[in-house]
Amino acid sequence: MKAVIPAAGLGTRFLPATKSTPKEMLPVVDKPAIQYVVEEAVRAGIDDILIITGRGKQSIEDYFDISYELESVLKERNDFEKLEEMREISDMADIHYIRQKKPLGLGHAILCAKKHVDGDNFAVLLGDDIIFSEKPCIGQLIEKFDELNSSVIGVGEVPAEWVEKYGIVDCRAVDTRLCEIEGIVEKPSMDEAPSNLAVMGRYVFTPDIFECIDETGIGKGGEIQLTDAIKILTERQKVYAYRFEGRRFDLGDKTDWLKTNVEAALNREEFRDEMIKFMKEKISRE
Ligand code: UTP
Repeated sequence: MKAVIPAAGLGTRFLPATKSTPKEMLPVVDKPAIQYVVEEAVRAGIDDILIITGRGKQSIEDYFDISYELESVLKERNDFEKLEEMREISDMADIHYIRQKKPLGLGHAILCAKKHVDGDNFAVLLGDDIIFSEKPCIGQLIEKFDELNSSVIGVGEVPAEWVEKYGIVDCRAVDTRLCEIEGIVEKPSMDEAPSNLAVMGRYVFTPDIFECIDETGIGKGGEIQLTDAIKILTERQKVYAYRFEGRRFDLGDKTDWLKTNVEAALNREEFRDEMIKFMKEKISRE
């Protein structure tokens, strides 16, 4: 299965950092956010990845490319460990790029992948959402997709006051983690929200989603919304929501980016003790 990673958004919530740096390239400890996303896809067995980029996103392509200059300096210095690490980044997967000429919305970004996907089922991982889990989140969704032969969307519960930041699903429970989507709405108010189950940046689609995006007009925020296309898809075939195992962070949000760094550092042996010590000291001083 191929994966599509939309990364062409403007990232206005993270200005000024994102004025000249793509939010997908913001570091989380020592790696850019998008590397975590690519690694998740690779861990799930995906080796063909299409990244949707746009103006000002050249650094994403450079990052996954070979850096001859850097490699030759590392070789001269006999730093073979770093050299190996750099090579692993460029060898991770077969990565392709296509530009979304204007940031017309997530739905439109995915439509740019139609030719590359070429009529197959495909996975979508948002380039600014990081999910920490034992089993890669997208792998959990692919497993369900194979079982059900229907599109599956990753969801998670959010506090009621957060529903207006997400796509929210209306669902009929199948089991504790799985439900069939009966409705979906983009960024509803607390009163309008049909539940507190939010779409979390991971999807596996049948290629029929493209036809639905084609039929989707301009939605919330003046953008072509993927949520509106999913709504059309649910009217034509079964679409499921799956409450995946894992913790999701939205890198486009400043507080979430800070939390992601703390979580990622605490997950790493080399930083863990020092970070805990620092935070305890900081809290006791407050
Ligand atoms: P967001 O909803 O976070 O939008 O996009 P944004 O425009 O990037 O950020 P803000 O709201 O201005 O801060 C979710 C994902 O969809 C991609 C983004 O790059 C991100 O990975 N996206 C969004 C596109 O690829 N194209 C678009 O037109 C919009």
